Amino acid sequence: MNKQHPFTISAQAGGHDGAVADVAPVLHMTSTYLRGADNVPMDHRNIYGRDQNDTVRHVEAVIAHLEQAAEALVFPSGMAAIAAVLRTFRPGQTVLIQSGIYWGTTHWVRDHCAQWGIHLIEADLSQTNSFPACHPDLVFLEIPSNPWLKVADIKSVRSQYPNACLVVDSTAATPIVSRPLSFGADIVVHSATKAMSGHSDLLAGALACKTPDDRWVKIAQDRQGAGAILGAFEAWLLLRSLRTLPVRVVQMCKNAQDLAERLEKHPHVQGVYYPGLIEHPQHAVARVQMEHGFGYLMSILVQGGRQAALDTLARLQVFQRATSLGGVESLVEHRHTIEPHTGIPENLLRLSIGIEHVDDLWHDLDQALRGSHA
Ligand SMILES: Cc1ncc(COP(=O)(O)O)c(C=O)c1O
Repeated sequence: MNKQHPFTISAQAGGHDGAVADVAPVLHMTSTYLRGADNVPMDHRNIYGRDQNDTVRHVEAVIAHLEQAAEALVFPSGMAAIAAVLRTFRPGQTVLIQSGIYWGTTHWVRDHCAQWGIHLIEADLSQTNSFPACHPDLVFLEIPSNPWLKVADIKSVRSQYPNACLVVDSTAATPIVSRPLSFGADIVVHSATKAMSGHSDLLAGALACKTPDDRWVKIAQDRQGAGAILGAFEAWLLLRSLRTLPVRVVQMCKNAQDLAERLEKHPHVQGVYYPGLIEHPQHAVARVQMEHGFGYLMSILVQGGRQAALDTLARLQVFQRATSLGGVESLVEHRHTIEPHTGIPENLLRLSIGIEHVDDLWHDLDQALRGSHA
């Protein structure tokens, strides 16, 4: 068969399991598996639910296919997936992590490296002219970054650090928009809690690898041993969501691009961070690394400072005030409230754009911005 387009892979989500002619993926709810009277497992692939479940295998196969990866592994959250990678590095090794990424990742990685004697370097890896001179064992990028929307150039990072394990968190892109492995990443990470599941109703994480090397085998063994497996029901919900991933993501990106272009000209907006804007400092890189749009996440700086931003937040009626991103409903968050010590501007609002009609989103933002400046 010809190589399938990601839209087709998603829509069919691996199809039926072949056993009973289902069109939709089957949910296998079992924690253990039968052995025969001879004490031999009746199905050699299935012994115990902590490592073996066909619904989990099914969603992993779809994610691997979407990422053009050799294999994928799912986890109970995005952080569990990130932690699984970090835990394969040893005391004395060096981790280089992009600065200004999801605060939960930075915070956990700092603690983990301090505890385990791992040398940690943080740098703005979207700036190709100021890559730190070092020999990292791991380089960790987030593209686009949350909430600054920076777009690191994966190929440049790869050639600067040829011997490092290069990991890209592609949560705010999804495999519909970007496939980091094709630009030189070794492992791609997703918080599948976000757009991959897309309905703000489950927590999940995923890793996909270019090559199932020794590190990958260690990650898989640790997941089994330490028990960080995604439940079958969540795996099934994720599969169900993946079937509509392209239509959701394309619509979210379209809305986001439209809003970013309108917000850029709004009299009460001081700045818009969105890689789809020509003025974005890494727009050229984004054009190479992204397709079908530039993601569903953006940040705006509200004219007038902290109070004006909080007033705007309070007046929004269609956008819902909540943390997280990637759902079909648009969300807004004042990030400085969550991470006051990381240099986030006090007038920054992070917007996760959903699939609502763009005019409703625009009118909501416009009335809230105008109302807060009346
Ligand atoms: C870019 C990014 N990566 C990882 C995570 C962590 O994902 P989870 O909440 O599923 O653990 C988040 C959460 O917001 C995120 O935004």
